[in-house]
Amino acid sequence: MRLTEQDHLFVLTGAGISAESGLATFRGSGGLWNGYRVEQVATPEAWDADPTLVWHFYSQRRRNASSAQPNAAHVALTQIEQQLGDRFYLCTQNVDDLHERAGSKRIHHMHGSLFQSRCTRCDQPFPDTALYETAETLPQCDQCGAPVRPHIVWFGEIPLDMDAIYRQLSRATVLLVVGTSGSVYPAAGFVDIANQQRTRTIYVGPEEPLNREAFDEILLGTATEVLPSLIDQANAT
Ligand code: APR
Repeated sequence: MRLTEQDHLFVLTGAGISAESGLATFRGSGGLWNGYRVEQVATPEAWDADPTLVWHFYSQRRRNASSAQPNAAHVALTQIEQQLGDRFYLCTQNVDDLHERAGSKRIHHMHGSLFQSRCTRCDQPFPDTALYETAETLPQCDQCGAPVRPHIVWFGEIPLDMDAIYRQLSRATVLLVVGTSGSVYPAAGFVDIANQQRTRTIYVGPEEPLNREAFDEILLGTATEVLPSLIDQANAT
């Protein structure tokens, strides 16, 4: 991937970039949680029906993410960010904090953050690393007593700060997409927007995404196999 001083790089990551840190993807093998599909535990309807089940799911994900470490692909993205400064923007669908722990700064979590919760009434997110695995331990708001939920964008909800994302996408000359199946919108549609404005588009992952036809280049391989050398090439110019 060659970059010049005029280039603006927009990176979109998905669950695949954290796979080699030991965090399961949603739709591949091992993509089920206790026999549930993610769509069965990550919706407002699931929350209304069984908040204990939903908190159990996110508590387990908190536990897994806490014990995972960033991998070479997360680190490679911090290196290119240091070089490009504000010509770099990272939009992740992931709710884990591995990008931050690798050192990413210009990052936006469009689907929320695993280590934040928010009151269903006050709506203000706050840091929260606690585990809530039984009905007796479900959290309530200190201020108003309403139930506290994970600060996660569930299916059917609107991703966070889409205006900022589209602003950054409109400046991009290169869109690099890593480890996402291309099945969840609006993220899966970023490549179409990029194509309309003639932004170069590159996909990295071990298998082709559903929207493979939309990409200029598909680099098959895992994130840690492909990203470090791709980023090295960009550094070399
Ligand atoms: N390196 C790169 N990509 C990988 C790796 C790897 N080591 N291992 C797997 N992948 C790829 C898979 O080939 C697949 O295309 O990662 C992708 C994971 O796809 P999904 O499980 O569908 O995850 P994602 O696209 O991030 O899901 C989007 O759906 O469940 C919701 O909100 C959740 O943010 C999530 C969204």
